[in-house]
Amino acid sequence: MKLKISLILLLVLSLFPLQAVTYKSCNWINHAISVSEFQLLAAAEKFKCTKKSPRTFEHNQVELVGTNDWTSGFFPGSLWYLYELTKNDSCKKEAIRYTEFLEKAQYRTDTHDLGFIVYCSYGNGFRLTGDPDYKAVLETASQSLMTRYHPTVGLVKSWDKRKWEYPVIIDNMLNLELLCEGSKLSGNPNPLQAAISHADKTIINHFRPDNSCYHVVDYDSITGNVKNRGTHQGFCDSSSWARGQGWALYGYTMMYRETKKLIYLEQAQKVAEFILHHPNLPKDKIPYWDFSAPNMPNAPRDASAAAIYASALIELSGYVTEKNDYLQIAGEILKTLSSEEYLAKVGENGFFILKHSTGNWPSKSEIDAPLSYADYYYLEAMVRYIKKKNIKL
Ligand code: GLY
Repeated sequence: MKLKISLILLLVLSLFPLQAVTYKSCNWINHAISVSEFQLLAAAEKFKCTKKSPRTFEHNQVELVGTNDWTSGFFPGSLWYLYELTKNDSCKKEAIRYTEFLEKAQYRTDTHDLGFIVYCSYGNGFRLTGDPDYKAVLETASQSLMTRYHPTVGLVKSWDKRKWEYPVIIDNMLNLELLCEGSKLSGNPNPLQAAISHADKTIINHFRPDNSCYHVVDYDSITGNVKNRGTHQGFCDSSSWARGQGWALYGYTMMYRETKKLIYLEQAQKVAEFILHHPNLPKDKIPYWDFSAPNMPNAPRDASAAAIYASALIELSGYVTEKNDYLQIAGEILKTLSSEEYLAKVGENGFFILKHSTGNWPSKSEIDAPLSYADYYYLEAMVRYIKKKNIKL
């Protein structure tokens, strides 16, 4: 009933934009949360019978995905963040529903993406509810991910059955959070040790002298030596794919939180310097999809990368003792993402929150489109920003 009333109210507001501005109008944050609440609850209602989660909206159609897709944890994760922001029980109900669609993902051993799939959904659910069943899922998923860690190489293998022998992509840094959580929950130190080994080797092998990173490093599975370095989603092997730099920034900030190893804090700061001082970063700090994208300034932007930067910078700002402007920059990014240019109008954009992300430019897919992970990291950044600045909603 409450959900129905709030959906009707927001629909009416969408028809009268002037009134919409006055609803919860204290600032841009309240407006952004209201829009997010409308969009995600409408999507949750619309797609619940499919037992799948929205991934993107292209050619006027929402693409829905299940446990076999790396993005399937983001929609439930977004609902958990929305519940944290609004305390609306409908958000919690939908978060539980969409999280539990993913139950069988915990047994997958054919992908490194269990962190994205299970940690974003069950991890946030466990954090907010303490449900022991969710704890069990997280422990099992951490064990499943450990099957992809081979001690001789000292890294978690990202992909199977592709052109590489033992590929490790920078995105994999995020999946280490599930291993860290697995150790905390089970008391078994092995997953944490694997995460540390992976992060240490990635510092050595993934980064260039200017502190940017390659997307893919392929290893020899017997010796653990690097075979080659390149890209999969970037413009070219030597370019800096915008979201990849975000995964690095977020991953090392998170690994510092989990281990307090200074080398990770330093690495996160080096990546932040690369991103924030790059001459091709637009003034509004929403990056083009690659720092060497063709056709700048008309190249597509990547709002998902910007949301990841914002979320990571807010956390990083709390760890760096010297004076820094990470929090201020994250606030500016969030404000831009919450402006008309990036924030959807209620009822539009396939019920996603943000516009203008780029999923995979080389494959000509999801270009200038909404993406579930842009929404997820945007909401996470909002939660972090509100807590850090002690903002009363
Ligand atoms: N992890 C895949 C991507 O960032 O597109």
